[in-house]
Formats: sequence, C-alpha cells, structure tokens
Amino acid sequence: MSKWAEGRIVNVRRWTEQLYSLQLEADIEPFVAGQFTRLAMDIDNERIARPYSFVNSPSNPLLEFYFIIVPDGPLTHHMIDLQPGDTIWVARRAAGFFVLPEIPDAEHLWLLSTGTAIGPFLSILGTEEVWRRFPRIVLVHAVRTSDELTYRDEIQQIASTHPGQFQMIPFVSREDTDFAIRGRVPAAIEDGRLEARTGLTLDAAQSQVMICGNPAMVRDTSAVLKERGMKKNLRRHPGHITTENYWKDNE
Ligand SMILES: Cc1cc2nc3c(=O)[nH]c(=O)nc-3n(C[C@H](O)[C@H](O)[C@H](O)COP(=O)(O)OP(=O)(O)OC[C@H]3O[C@@H](n4cnc5c(N)ncnc54)[C@H](O)[C@@H]3O)c2cc1C
Ligand SMILES: NC(=O)c1ccc[n+]([C@@H]2O[C@H](COP(=O)([O-])OP(=O)(O)OC[C@H]3O[C@@H](n4cnc5c(N)ncnc54)[C@H](OP(=O)(O)O)[C@@H]3O)[C@@H](O)[C@H]2O)c1
Repeated sequence: MSKWAEGRIVNVRRWTEQLYSLQLEADIEPFVAGQFTRLAMDIDNERIARPYSFVNSPSNPLLEFYFIIVPDGPLTHHMIDLQPGDTIWVARRAAGFFVLPEIPDAEHLWLLSTGTAIGPFLSILGTEEVWRRFPRIVLVHAVRTSDELTYRDEIQQIASTHPGQFQMIPFVSREDTDFAIRGRVPAAIEDGRLEARTGLTLDAAQSQVMICGNPAMVRDTSAVLKERGMKKNLRRHPGHITTENYWKDNE
C-alpha cells in the first residue's frame, strides 16, 4: 500500500487572510493526539510535502489541519487554492513524540503555543486522558494580533465542559486589548504576570510544560523555565519541559 492516502477536502475554514484550516477525509492509520502527519501536493511534477499537526482528536474521523500562508512558501501558497472536493496527499502514518504518554504526571499541565501551534493542543484537549491525568490545565495561545486568536468557540466549549480544571490565557504581542496579556510568553513568566493571571505556580514541583511553535519562543521560554530549576523531559531522564519546533531556529 502506498505511504500516501488521497485526502478529500470537506471544508475550508478561512480565519484571516493568512490563516486557514482544512477539514478532510482520508484513509490513514490511527494516531496519538499531539502527533503530526505530512501533507503533500504535486507541484510542477514534484511532490512537495510538509509536516502538519492534527487539530482533531484521534476519535474524530474528520481530519483537521491549521496553517498559515508563508509568503513564497513552496507548499502553503498552493494550499490556499484548495476547495471542497479537491484532493491533497496525506501520509498514512503519523509521527512525533509530542504526546501525553511521554509526559510525566503533574498537578498542573501548561500548554504553551504560538500561532498555528495551538493545533496539537486542541487535539490533546479532545482526549479523555488529559482530563483524567492533570487536575489543572492552562492553554496559552500567543499571537501577534487579536484576529489570530482562532478556535475561540472550540476553546470556549472546552472551558465550559471543564470549569475549574481549565484556563485559556491569550497573549497578543502587537496590539492592546482589554483581555489578553500584551507581550511575549517568556517575559510574562519572568515577571510573574502569567502566574498572577492563572493563580497557579509554575514550578518543577507541580508542573509539566509542553511548548510548541515558533522556535525562538520555544528556546526563550525553555531558558526561563530552566532558571526555575525545570529540566528538559527525556525518556531516560524524565523532566518538566517537552517541546516541538515548527521550523528551524536561525540563532
Ligand atoms: C513537527 C512539525 C509540525 C508542524 N505543524 C504545522 C501546523 O500544524 N501548521 C502549520 O502551519 N505549520 C506546521 N509546521 C510547519 C510546516 O511544515 C511548513 O513548514 C509550513 O506550513 C510552511 O510550508 P511552506 O512549504 O510554505 O514553507 P517552508 O519552506 O516549509 O517554510 C518557510 C518558512 O516559513 C516560516 N514558517 C513555517 N511554518 C510556520 C508556521 N506554522 N507559522 C509561522 N511561520 C512558519 C518559517 O520561517 C520557515 O522557515 C510544522 C512543522 C513541523 C516540523
Ligand atoms: N501573522 C501575520 O500577520 C503574518 C503576515 C504575513 C506573513 N506571515 C508569516 O508568518 C510568519 C509568522 O507567523 P506568526 O504570525 O505565527 O508569528 P510569529 O512570528 O511566530 O509570532 C507569534 C507570536 O510569537 C511571539 N514570539 C516571537 N518570537 C518570540 C520569542 N523569542 N519569545 C517569545 N515569543 C516570541 C510573537 O511576538 P512578537 O510579535 O513580539 O514577535 C507573537 O506574539 C512569518 O514568518 C511570515 O512568514 C505572518
């Protein structure tokens, strides 16, 4: 059997001029929430493939992927042309270790994302396991402008299903709002604004932190947490910080 399945687009969600989600059906192997697969299109007789995290939970057969148009990006500026009924290749087998079975138990689970990297956290929040294992869960979505705070209805639904157990903290870095923290995640951890907003302590004794998205944010946030005595989570040496970069850090 080919490693590629034909995915049929069922719906395209257009959030802003740059942000889109594809909902599609494809005959793929089971995956674990937090994993990614690869999407591909044949462009000028070449198959161009890139990794994308599942937004849907494993129990939902309607696959969903959330992406930003990268100007001159080889794949994404072709993906915006897709319409319901069109097809896209989907790798049958998912990959990745950014998943709950890799995370030790803790009182507090912090899910820190920039931009499109909220996707794997939505998949994780759709599992039963996360609610069974972590008494308090904080989801952070850090974006440049407030229109990029997408999936608000879904997040509101999660909050109302799990009152007392779940908090969503929006960050907006490039405009003032009356509801989001203005600025960047590492700074708000350093100066205590994130903890003050949640009422929770972010420390090695109680917390597991998953960080996903912009590699500079992943790097800088990890550095601030390490100053607090938290360690990278490795299979052989369990720690507190588990990360996934969406592209390569230039520094
Ligand atoms: C494990 C993994 C999971 C990923 N999951 C997603 C996902 O769910 N949604 C998604 O949009 N992308 C995701 N990506 C990035 C994705 O694979 C592509 O790189 C991206 O969609 C751009 O593709 P491209 O061919 O247009 O440009 P590329 O040549 O792949 O990228 C060009 C540049 O665009 C920037 N860039 C890439 N991805 C992003 C992004 N998500 N947000 C902001 N800037 C970006 C970077 O500066 C990068 O160097 C993931 C990457 C990895 C490694
Ligand atoms: N979003 C858009 O309007 C837009 C428009 C055209 C193209 N693009 C494309 O999309 C890419 C950007 O993706 P994106 O919109 O998801 O933005 P992003 O640059 O990944 O920023 C998302 C959030 O992460 C923050 N951040 C960046 N570096 C950080 C660090 N070191 N520590 C902590 N936080 C950090 C940003 O803060 P700061 O704001 O302080 O950097 C912002 O709040 C660009 O490279 C470009 O290719 C985006």
